[in-house]
Amino acid sequence: MKDRQFSRRDFFYLCLGGGLLAASYPLARVISQSRAGNKKQAFAPTPSNTLGPFYKKGAPRTERLIERNEPGVPLLVTGRIINTDGQSLPTATIEVFHSDHHGDYDNQGFHHRGQIPVHDSGEYKFETIMPGQYDDRAQHIHYVITAPGHKQLVTQLYFETDPKFAGDPDTNYTRDNLVWHRELIRPVTKVAKGGVSYSSVVFDICLEKA
Ligand SMILES: [Fe+2]
Repeated sequence: MKDRQFSRRDFFYLCLGGGLLAASYPLARVISQSRAGNKKQAFAPTPSNTLGPFYKKGAPRTERLIERNEPGVPLLVTGRIINTDGQSLPTATIEVFHSDHHGDYDNQGFHHRGQIPVHDSGEYKFETIMPGQYDDRAQHIHYVITAPGHKQLVTQLYFETDPKFAGDPDTNYTRDNLVWHRELIRPVTKVAKGGVSYSSVVFDICLEKA
């Protein structure tokens, strides 16, 4: 993965100014549109995935997991937390953590770890860098999501551009045998604005009711 220097402040400003959260989100897959006399949409819950050994409690509440001028490919992750009825869950708590661009976790502190604020709309966002591969693992970000009245979800976000998938995640996603579900591998959009380049990924999350 090619390293790149960037200004964290400029990147954050760009994300806010770009109105990315106002964009239309491809919400979780609709599994049934309507039934006779019932127009309520039902959404498929996001698949779970392993927590792994590197989770730490107590991560700071933040939308920025990176330091100024940190090496790595800048990454913006956005999404919305909903339940299987399609209701937004602004009371949800999202914890994320991932490795640095070399594939190493910060097990002493909280670098690349955070509790991500969820806005009234149920939307969330955070800026970071693309994680590196380690061992035989594809690039990934760990998620732990809780919301009152809903089952806790532990899962991982993966990236279609990961070299591990050789450009064909439909065929190759099992090259990492911890990628249990193809749908956890999300498209990556390359964005270039105002002299700043970054990758953007949308990861909507759907929780089951308890
Ligand atoms: Fe991991």
